[in-house]
Order: sequence, then structure tokens, then C-alpha cells
Amino acid sequence: MKRLFLFITTIIIFIIPSQADEGMWLPYLLQLNEKDMQANGMKISAEDIYSINHGSLKDAVVLFGSGCTGEIVSDQGLLLTNHHCGYGRIQAHSTLEHDYLTNGFWAMNKNEELPNPGFTVTLLVSMKDVTREVLEGVKDNMSESERQSIINKNINKIKETAVIGTHYQARITPIYNNNQYLLFINEVFTDIRLVGAPPSNIGKFGGDTDNWMWPRHTGDFSVFRIYTGKDGKPAPYSKDNIPYRPKRHLKISLKDINEGDFTFVFGYPGSTQQFIPSYAVELIKDQTDPIAIDLRTKRLDIIKRYINNDRLTRIQYASKAAGISNGWKKWIGELQGLDRLNTVKNKQNIEAQFLTWIQNDPSRQQKYGTLLDQYKNLYAQLQPVAKENSYFMEAFYSIEIVEFMWKLKSLLTLNPNTPDADKERILKNAANNIKSFFKDYNSKLDKEIFILLANEYFQHSQYTRNKIDVEKTADRIFSRSLFLQQEKLEQLVASGNVKALQKLNNDVLVKFAMPYFDLYIDSVSPQYQALNKQITSLNRIWTQALMEMQPDKQFYPDANLTLRVAYGKVAGFEPQDGVKYKHYTTIEGIMQKENPDIYDYVVEPRLKELYNNKDYGRYANSKGEMPVAFIATNHTTGGNSGSPVLNAYGELIGLNFDRCWEGTMSDIQYDPQVCRNITLDIRYCLFIIDKFAGAGHLIEEMDIVN
Ligand code: ARG
Ligand code: ASP
Repeated sequence: MKRLFLFITTIIIFIIPSQADEGMWLPYLLQLNEKDMQANGMKISAEDIYSINHGSLKDAVVLFGSGCTGEIVSDQGLLLTNHHCGYGRIQAHSTLEHDYLTNGFWAMNKNEELPNPGFTVTLLVSMKDVTREVLEGVKDNMSESERQSIINKNINKIKETAVIGTHYQARITPIYNNNQYLLFINEVFTDIRLVGAPPSNIGKFGGDTDNWMWPRHTGDFSVFRIYTGKDGKPAPYSKDNIPYRPKRHLKISLKDINEGDFTFVFGYPGSTQQFIPSYAVELIKDQTDPIAIDLRTKRLDIIKRYINNDRLTRIQYASKAAGISNGWKKWIGELQGLDRLNTVKNKQNIEAQFLTWIQNDPSRQQKYGTLLDQYKNLYAQLQPVAKENSYFMEAFYSIEIVEFMWKLKSLLTLNPNTPDADKERILKNAANNIKSFFKDYNSKLDKEIFILLANEYFQHSQYTRNKIDVEKTADRIFSRSLFLQQEKLEQLVASGNVKALQKLNNDVLVKFAMPYFDLYIDSVSPQYQALNKQITSLNRIWTQALMEMQPDKQFYPDANLTLRVAYGKVAGFEPQDGVKYKHYTTIEGIMQKENPDIYDYVVEPRLKELYNNKDYGRYANSKGEMPVAFIATNHTTGGNSGSPVLNAYGELIGLNFDRCWEGTMSDIQYDPQVCRNITLDIRYCLFIIDKFAGAGHLIEEMDIVN
């Protein structure tokens, strides 16, 4: 009996603090988590992480572009993010003579850093709740459109007054499915220069094969710098600009990282859907994910065959394949995870609990009585429309030449009355589009994809019952369409001859594809949007009900590309029966994976040399190993890439870059047993910068605590 009691108390003690792990918390409300974070090992305060009165860690964390996170690591605006986040910039500077993507790039002094016009980095100045102001004038009995128009008016007014007299930008974002609203004041920097990137066989080591997987050995980082005008404020690129002097930069720790250590991730998670009802999960699980997976499996098979046989096609399609494969692989993991966790059943249980909760309460009945029936009804209507949408987007519109034609569609609208300025803009855009499209296009490959995907589309779309002979159509289009003849198309656009351009309307590709675009735009998309709009307004009420029903539960808003803190512990896991994963990897694993015949597993001679000499400098761990990556229980998602991973003292220990496959359903349901974020160990990053690239001057700028 006593034993049992002891056993039970240890379980309870064990369970209570494990409130950690799940959640993407709002930094300005972090006081609510402070106790729990400290109980889990944190040695700093919530105010050290986010403060609007003094410098805090948040002053060192930025939104990198519009889908990644970065962090400032020196008092001269030096910035770290992932290689796959800097990829577009690195690629833009790469040519056959200077192939930075393949060989890496290192600016040996500030003059060599490369500007990226148009690219931005956004720093949060402050955030606050403006729900009351946004909802002013909104009444319960209003129609959705009345409601939205008042909200929009209020939002515009608040945004305008919030930044008067400053160089800041304001953004208002709903949270909890439009139940609350937050105002964000941002500073947007516009002179961001590329400082360094490892070669792809370090920055992308393991490629798509290792993507979403553990054990991982990818050196997924790149280095940038923020510049400002002489006054320290954001300014567009100028050679007279100066390195940004941040309010705060992160200190870097080289100390050992052990299983159980407290960590937190501070960054910009993009999107999660924890509040969706069982019907939505069923739709994802039974339809959306399987369709996309199936179509991408077949598409990737074709692309891979070409990539493996031809170097040029590899260069042209590596990044495209990575994009297609990234979603594909994530959804496979997500499906398995939803199945394993029985998420539909879990959602149904909550819904049953909800029905009981409203049953004997007339006011709840009145507010929420029809909610679940409405959901059921809407999802039943949505199901065929969503299917149509999936096949349009993942099949028809995924044919490269079809998408290309669509991007050039404004050429088709030119006529003798088009104002000169418009005409000039349209022709210039088209010329740019044509150039970049053909640089990375293989028409033989795309013809195979055309035959595959058009067939799929015609087989599954309910609108396209009249079967066409896809192979014959492909033959006709690929032999005759002007959209496949770069030179002729370029000449035509350069001529600006409107009469000749109008003839494009009779092009065989246009004739073939346009009716399906019309169908989509006139019929599928409006239905899809209308249903989703209704679902969105139900989501607001459902979320409100869930929060009302569980008054003691600490909720966090779904990710929406706003700054969040996730915290947890360094931890391995058991992906399947009889298998246990360690919490970290080392350079040994790189050597084990090495394969000179497989592109993604080539190891640079210089790295091998360092490995053979065990020349790890101060970056080795206390066992003398060179750590590469580690995993922890932090709840992260797309957008968290590049996020700083910090230790109990708020020091930088790594860069978040991925999740483990078994846990990719965490966007819908988090499972502390298997959900792990994957972090590049900062010591491997610094080792590559210092020892591999010989860019020690960058290390000297940093603030390293031993
Ligand atoms: N899975 C990671 C994320 O979702 C990394 C993607 C880039 N890497 C790749 N091999 N495709 O963004
Ligand atoms: N790799 C993702 C990103 O780029 C992160 C994730 O989905 O876990 O943001």
C-alpha cells in the first residue's frame, strides 16, 4: 500500500511539470509560464525574454523574410538563420563561375558582403492586446459581413494611429480564431547582406533523404548582416550604410548539452490548427493529405529519374524537388501520427464532452446548440469541393508549363487601348518571367509530368467528364505552343507588337488550359472560399466554447507567424518498438553516411581532414566529440526554421531547423512521447565558420561564454 502510494506520488510529481513541451506561448504573457519554466530548469525571468521597457532577448530575434526566423549574434548586426532559409539569396548570387550554392561563400571582410535588394528582416518593437478596440461597435446579432466590416475599419484606424510619427510598421492579427486581436509594432530593415554560407554538402547534407528525419547531420545555417542608415534606422541598400547596432544580441554557449536540459525556442511559427473539429481532421486524414501524397509521389518519381541521369537537370530541379518533397514527406508523417494518436477519436471525445456540457444549460444551448450540426453539414458540403480544389492545385496547376502560361496571362489582355505604362510593366514582367522560367526548365520532363497530372485531373475532377486524349494533347502542345519556344516568345515580347501578342489567345496551350482555369475561378474557388468563410466563423464560436468549457486549462493561440516562445527539454525518444534514439548526433555520423556516389552524401575533403585530425578546437564537447545536432521536446512548426534555441540562461545553443517525422502531426495534435524539434548544435555551426571556412573574424565578433 505504502509502495503504491509512493508510486502514485512520484507519477504525479512527474506529470505536473510536464505541462511544458506543448505550446507556443505569447512572449508578452510569458509571466503566466514563468513558474513552470523555472520549475523545468529555467534560470532567467520572463522579463529577461520579453520586455518593452528594457533590452531583452526579443530584441535579438527577427522574422527573416516572410517565413523563417533569424537571430542577431553580434553588436554589429550579424545574423544567423538556416541554410534552407538563406537558400534563395545564396542561389540568387550564384552563377556557373561563382557557384556559392555548391561551394559555399564567405565574405572575408565587410566589403565583400553581398546586398539583397528587396529582402527584409523584421524586428518586433512591442505587442499588445487590442481586442476591445478592434471589436468596438460589434454586436452579437450582426451578420458576419457587417461584423467584419466594422472590424476592418477599426483595425485600419488603430494601425494608423499606432505608428504616427515613427518609422515603425503596425500589424494587427487575430488569435484564438478571431476571438482576440493583437497589435504588433515592427521595425523593418531593408539592407540585409549575405555574409557566409557553407557548401550545400554541409548546409544541405543528407538532402531530401534525411529531411524530417532523425538521426540528422545537416549543417543547416547561413550568415547575414543587417545594415542601417547612418542614423541607425532602416534604410534601403546604400554602400554608405552602417552595420546595425542592436539593442541586444545573443550570447553563445559552448557548454555541454545534456539529456533533460531546459531549452526554449524563440521564433516565428507559421501555422497550426489545434482547435479544429473532428470533421476537419477527417478531411485532412482521408482526403487532403492522401491526394497530395499520391500525386507528389508520382511526380517525384519522374523528377528523380531525370535528376539522377543528368547534371543540368539536377541543378535546375534540385530546389523544386526539395519543395515538392518537403510537403510530401511531412504529410506522410502527419497521416501516420494522426492515425497513431487516434486524433479523430480524441476530437470526437471532446465534442461528446461539449454536448454534455451544453445539455442542461439553456443559455449554452442557445449559444452553441447547433454548432456541431453546422460543422457536420458544412464539412459534408466542403468535402467534394475540397477534392476538386486539391486536384486542381496538386495536379492541373502543378504542370509547370500550365503555371507558366497562367503567370503570363496578362500578355493575353494587351490590346491597342492598353495604357503605355501598363503595357510596359506587363512586357517587362513577362520578359523576366520567361528568362527565369527557361533557366530551370526541362520540357521533356515536364511533358511526362503533363501526361501524368492531366490524366489524374481529368480522372478525378467531376467537371471534366468528356475524356480527352491526354497523350495526343501533350504531343500537340509540346510541339506547337509558343509558350515552349523561348526564343520566339522572347522576340514576340520584346517587339511589343500588340497585334501579334493578341494571337497568343489562339495558342494551343491557352486554348487547352484556359477553360479549366475559368472553371476553377468561376465555380470551384468561390464555393471553396464561401464554405471556408462559414467554417471560419464557426471556428470562432467553437474556440470560444472550448475555452469556456475548460476554464482551468492554459490555452495558447495557434501559430500565425507571430513571435512565440516554446519550451521543453533535450530528450531522445522511442520511434518504434525496440528502437531508442539518442538526443544528439556527432561528426561520426557524417562519416558513416558518406557516399561519394550519392550527391547528398558527399563529404568535402577539408571536412574529412579536420575529422581525421580531430581538429575541433574549442568546439568539441567534454568527451572530445564534435556534436552536430540535438533534439528536444519544444513545440515548433514551419517558420520556426532558423529560430534560436536557448539554454536555461538564455544563451544560444543552436538553430532550430526541423522536426522528427514521427511528430509532424504536432500542427494538429502534439504528443510529448515523439514530438521533437531538431536543432543544429551551435558548436558545429561555429566549427564550420572557424575551422572549415577560416572565417574566424566572424567568431571574434560574437560573444561566446565558456
Ligand atoms: N523540413 C524542413 C522544413 O520544413 C527543412 C526543409 C528544407 N530541406 C530540404 N531538404 N528540403 O522546412
Ligand atoms: N523546417 C521547418 C521550417 O522551415 C520547421 C518545421 O516545420 O519544423 O520552418
